[in-house]
Parts: sequence; structure tokens; C-alpha cells
Amino acid sequence: MMPGDEMLPNEPETISVFLDDNTEPLSVYRPPATFNLDTTKITDGEHVLRIEAVDSVGNVGIRRVPFIVENGPGITVTGLRPGSRVRGTVELNVNAFGSNEPFDPVRAESAGPVPVWTWVFFVIVVGWAGWYGMEYFKTPPEFARTPTYAANPALAAANAPATVTSAQTPAAVGRNAAAGSKNVAGFDYATLGAQVYSQNCQACHGADGAGVPSTFPALVNDPVVNGKDADMHIRIVLHGLSGKVISGVRYSAQMPAFGSQLTDAQIAAVIDHERTSWGNNGPTVTPDEVRANH
Ligand code: HEC
Repeated sequence: MMPGDEMLPNEPETISVFLDDNTEPLSVYRPPATFNLDTTKITDGEHVLRIEAVDSVGNVGIRRVPFIVENGPGITVTGLRPGSRVRGTVELNVNAFGSNEPFDPVRAESAGPVPVWTWVFFVIVVGWAGWYGMEYFKTPPEFARTPTYAANPALAAANAPATVTSAQTPAAVGRNAAAGSKNVAGFDYATLGAQVYSQNCQACHGADGAGVPSTFPALVNDPVVNGKDADMHIRIVLHGLSGKVISGVRYSAQMPAFGSQLTDAQIAAVIDHERTSWGNNGPTVTPDEVRANH
């Protein structure tokens, strides 16, 4: 016999099939063999098939194959997971379905409580939808002061100079501003005048009309602002001013022209505002008088 010969495996003579720890084989074959395992004769649950092959010299090879038999109805349990810790009373949902019935996931998984993460997700989605809706229907800033959205229609009108023309406002309206009254159209001239002033004049002449000493002239007690003839006042606002000595002061800065930036109604309103504010007491003007000085 050559030394390597004993390394060759011998041909198996018999194959025995055992179930679990039984010492009696289910059957014994000569290889190769086809074997039918009738699981209906075995109880449901975990089993092991042990296959032993014996060769001509008596060497035994063993192979173990664990398997699970499920011939009875399928069982689902909700409310108790394998290995979980429980105390007190635990509510379980137990269900069973036959192997001839189609597997029904709705029944098999029915009656489980909705998991927390589902609620969290739901709340996040609903919250986002709410926020999105509010953002979507928010009034855009450029429309915030239009008649449709503004809480105060007078402010809205003041912010829409294109719609405020001297043609649309009666000549008498300018005079009403002196008394701070509202005209028939609900148009508040005093409010418009104050607003035009704060947006166009206040930076230089100050909120209280006091100006900045030797830089911008005060409008309080100013002869032009209080002058009986308002044409000078109108022309300065319409066309600007430079190089004039006011109360002995020569201002190096210029008074800008507003004739092309503001409507006649806005200019009349701001002039009337200056003429009736901070103790000033000059006759008021109308948009038509402004137009006449263009
Ligand atoms: C950039 C600064 C500035 C702004 C803005 C400005 N002014 Fe003037 N304003 C001046 C200066 C400077 C003078 C003096 C010019 C001069 O002496 O030549 C002046 C002069 C005047 C005068 C003349 C005073 C007088 O006694 O002659 C009036 C009236 C006046 N401004 C009204 C207005 C009104 C109304 C507005 C807004 C619509 C306005 N100003 C905006 C700088 C400004």
C-alpha cells in the first residue's frame, strides 16, 4: 500500500437518517438515496435531522440539519416580544391562521398599538403643513400696504402715490389738512403729510423741524414756511435750493428737488405738515397750487 492511499476517503456503504435523539433510524439506504420526510408524523416545532454515513472500514460521518415543522395553524402574538421584560398585567393580542388560508397581514398584524414614531412623524408633517400654509398666505411686503391688505386704508393710499393725484383730490382737501381733518373720501391729509415728511425730509430737517445747526436749516419759525405767500415754499420743495443764506447762515449742503419724486398731492400735504407743525402757522396749500409752480 502506498503511503498516500490511506488519505483517500472510502466509499460510504450505508446512510442512516435519524430524527432528533432517536437511536432507531427513520430509514437506512445505500447511497445515493432519495428520502421522503413525512413531517405530518412529527410534532410542530424545532427538530434535528441527523444523517450518519458509514464507509466500508467503519468510519462514521455525521451531519446535523436543524429544521422547524409547522403543520398547525400559524400563530401571531402582538404585545409581547421574545425576551422582553414585563410586569403587572400585559395585554396580548393572539391570532392563529390555517396553512390553507392565504396569509393575511392585516389580521396577522391587527390591533397593534400605533408606534410612537408614527405619531411623531404625523405631528411633524402636520406642523410643517400648517407653517407652510401660513407662509403661503402671508401678505407679501410689497402688497402689505395696498388697499386690499392694509389695516389702515389711509396709509395704503399714502404708499400708492400713483393713485393719489391732484386731479383725484379736491382742491379744498389741502386746506382741511390744517385742521387735521379727514376729507369726504376718507383720505387723511394730515397723516399723509406727516408720513411724506418722515420719509423724505426728516433725515435733514429733523423729526421736530429743528434741523442740524449750521448744516441743515430749522423749519421751526422759518420765514419761508410761515410766509403768507406759499409759492416760495412750494418752489423750493419742487425744484430744490442751494447757496441761500438763511437767518445769517450759509449752508454748504443743498436742498434736493422733489418735483419728480413726489406727487403734487404729496408735496401739498408735506408743505401743509410743515406749515402747521412745531408751532408754525402758515397758510396751507392745495395740490393745484403745487401744480401751478412746476
Ligand atoms: C439732504 C438734506 C435735505 C433733505 C432730505 C431736505 N432738505 Fe430741505 N433743505 C436742506 C438744505 C441744506 C436747505 C438749505 C439750502 C440753502 O440754504 O441753500 C434746505 C432748505 C429747505 C427749505 C427752505 C428754508 C428757507 O428758509 O429757505 C424748505 C422749506 C425745506 N428745505 C423743506 C424741505 C422739505 C419739505 C423736504 C422734504 C420733502 C426737505 N426739505 C428735504 C436739506 C434738505
